[in-house]
Amino acid sequence: MVVVSGTKIAEEISSGRSEVWRLIQQLRRLGVDVAGHPASGYQLRSVPDLLLPEILQLRLRGTIFNSNIRHYFKIGSTNTAAMAAAAEGAAQGSIFLAEEQTAGRGRGSNSWISERSTGIYCSVILRPPLPPSDVLVISLAAGLAVQAAIQHVDPNVAPDLKWPNDLLIDGKKVCGILTEMNSEATQVRYIVIGIGINVNQASFPPELGATSLRMVTGREWSRVEVAAALLKSLDREYRSLLESPDAMQSIMRRFVERSSWAYGKKVRIEESFSAMEGTTAGLDARGFLQLKTAHGLQTVLSGTVRERK
Ligand code: BTN
Repeated sequence: MVVVSGTKIAEEISSGRSEVWRLIQQLRRLGVDVAGHPASGYQLRSVPDLLLPEILQLRLRGTIFNSNIRHYFKIGSTNTAAMAAAAEGAAQGSIFLAEEQTAGRGRGSNSWISERSTGIYCSVILRPPLPPSDVLVISLAAGLAVQAAIQHVDPNVAPDLKWPNDLLIDGKKVCGILTEMNSEATQVRYIVIGIGINVNQASFPPELGATSLRMVTGREWSRVEVAAALLKSLDREYRSLLESPDAMQSIMRRFVERSSWAYGKKVRIEESFSAMEGTTAGLDARGFLQLKTAHGLQTVLSGTVRERK
């Protein structure tokens, strides 16, 4: 936070003062708060809450996510970028973070509002040695990881989980997860878990039924802190899934414990061309939602769960 002359910076980057000026202007346009001008020097007023690899890497030491972090100021969709990179052979643990998405994708054909530097837009590549039928459990674990991360940063905030992996606060959506995969019939090649967390948004159109951590707590949150807590938590969940024979049951048990939707909720499951109504009755051994309906117990394989009043 000291004042550093333009000449000194120019020396350090082996360039001229006009190049320093150009770069400072570029940083300012990206939202970095730099005081001063070429005559007196420059001063970084505050460290920006940007999800930069240099900042996250230190916090992610010892996790699978610390060696291949890609950060974009603006991108179409981090999931699209991660799927393309995975197809080209990108390593497990690669992460894709964006300040802004211009074509953020949600489940089904929904889009995901991805306003600049307010939310966390993150996709990770995993290559689990598992059959495609086990991928739902990884996706449920990602929801648990987001819930744990938010509670790690502020234990007073208690997001609810809605199957398969929405997080809600006061009934409004604060996080969505889009898991995509490429697999053979019996073996996953790679999966991409895309996580969108509403962190510092000031408002949402009411019809979206969305909220942000800032809207529920009335204060700004550090996106770096939330993102680091999330990736550490996801690392723990994923490692234990690969290493511990009981991990699948543990994920299912914790999901049911931490979701007010898992049992006894009157719901309607909406799919593109059909709907089903009933009362939730837990998860089956693979993580699919069980529903008590007028025609007996049914297994919900996909769709959007909505509460029936
Ligand atoms: C949902 O519909 O609830 C899932 C939303 C997932 C949004 C995230 S933001 C990061 C990643 N990139 C995308 O395009 N989508 C996911």
